[in-house]
Amino acid sequence: MLTLRLDGALTVDNEPPADLLITGKDRDPVALHDADGSVAAVLGALRRPSTWQQLHEQVPLGEGKLDVLIRRLLVTGVVTLGCADEHGDVATARFRSRLADVRPDAAPAGDQLVQLSPYALLRRLDDRAVVESAHDGTIVELHRPALAAVVAGLCAPAVAAAAAGHAPGGEQLLRLLAAVGLVIAPGPETGRPPHAVWTHTRSRNGLVELRTVAPGALDEPPAEPAAGTDIALPVPDLAALRRTDPPLAEVMETRRSVRRFGGTPLTLTQLGELLHRVARVQQRLPADPADDRSYAFTLRPAPSAGAMHELDHYLTIRACEGLAPGVYRYLPDRHALAVVNRDPVPLVRLINAAYLALNRVSVPQVLISLAARGDRTTRKYGDLAYSLTLRNAGVALQSVYLCATAMGLGACAVGSGDAADFAEATGLDPAEVSAVAEIVVGSLPGEDV
Ligand SMILES: Cc1cc2nc3c(=O)[nH]c(=O)nc-3n(C[C@H](O)[C@H](O)[C@H](O)COP(=O)(O)O)c2cc1C
Repeated sequence: MLTLRLDGALTVDNEPPADLLITGKDRDPVALHDADGSVAAVLGALRRPSTWQQLHEQVPLGEGKLDVLIRRLLVTGVVTLGCADEHGDVATARFRSRLADVRPDAAPAGDQLVQLSPYALLRRLDDRAVVESAHDGTIVELHRPALAAVVAGLCAPAVAAAAAGHAPGGEQLLRLLAAVGLVIAPGPETGRPPHAVWTHTRSRNGLVELRTVAPGALDEPPAEPAAGTDIALPVPDLAALRRTDPPLAEVMETRRSVRRFGGTPLTLTQLGELLHRVARVQQRLPADPADDRSYAFTLRPAPSAGAMHELDHYLTIRACEGLAPGVYRYLPDRHALAVVNRDPVPLVRLINAAYLALNRVSVPQVLISLAARGDRTTRKYGDLAYSLTLRNAGVALQSVYLCATAMGLGACAVGSGDAADFAEATGLDPAEVSAVAEIVVGSLPGEDV
């Protein structure tokens, strides 16, 4: 039997305009409308664990209405769904999404074939063993570690009675996992891969509650001091460009991905112009002393969530007039390049991967890798950080596309960049700085002399 109960010590207050306000330690308040007092009646009854059936007897609301109400209380996380046997609690399910799958009647018959959902993740949460749904974030806490054997036993299709027999409480656990959609009937698997679903649900509000981290140390790091060996880049004449650039409508309408480049490489002046126009620091702004949530930040030509600008532009140069081949980092404060690596081996690997990705049409002259300092955005945005970084990368790619088009250069994004190649070429730890997007730029064939 599955039992419903209030999740921990909750305080239920009558508080207009929402009628009821439910508060508790370590949780966001939940406001519920309760015009006829039925919610308060259900919450009162659930101060003691109760089965669905018992609740129907205690709060006779009419079948449909009570079921809708219970579901609402479950998906707001106010009420949990649990199971127990004669030795005590077996497992507890906490729902974390309004869209959560709740099927209290999905008890598999003993002779039925069952299997673990590919979207079930057995993992540690703080000091507890949990099975989590990648789809909707529902967490089933295992109150006995030995029950992990039941979960593991469900990897291959199994008859329910046999799968449940791996540990005491197995039958109850199986029922609970079926009720939350984590145990299913075996069948063809066609959906999105679990990691993609997991990343999506864990980085969108509404699908699970997100962990957002209190701001701290968000100030934009100070401009790097000149290393003496940095390569100063030519600065374009922006006033002249305002007069001579093609109109935006023209650029937007003619931009195309270019995979065939000219035999004459682009020049250091062109590279300097491109980087200046898409990535330099235009302005540094201090934190507002009157606002303790503010932080020092920079403004640059491309937008970036929270002005975090956690993406650095790294350049792998195979052919650029005026610049030796190598891997460089763009220094956006000083509009200069820092040498990262001049070893031809990792350089060739990065260029070759881009060449293959662009259908082997011509060997790229310059590859720009956008590398994220992920910790920076995580400090501000918590679970949202990675998805914001990918959006920032899309913005940065389009900036390069448009600027290259305006300059009469070719550009093509690379969808299959290799973060390990980048880590080897730069010596950076991918756990701290990792390439998330790449784009190739070069001269157009018609420019050959
Ligand atoms: C994120 C992203 C990744 C891409 N990856 C590749 C790639 O690996 N190889 C390639 O030849 N083109 C790649 N492209 C270019 C697309 O194929 C191109 O944008 C699409 O065919 C439309 O053509 P257009 O850019 O000329 O309008 C990519 C584009 C984007 C935005």
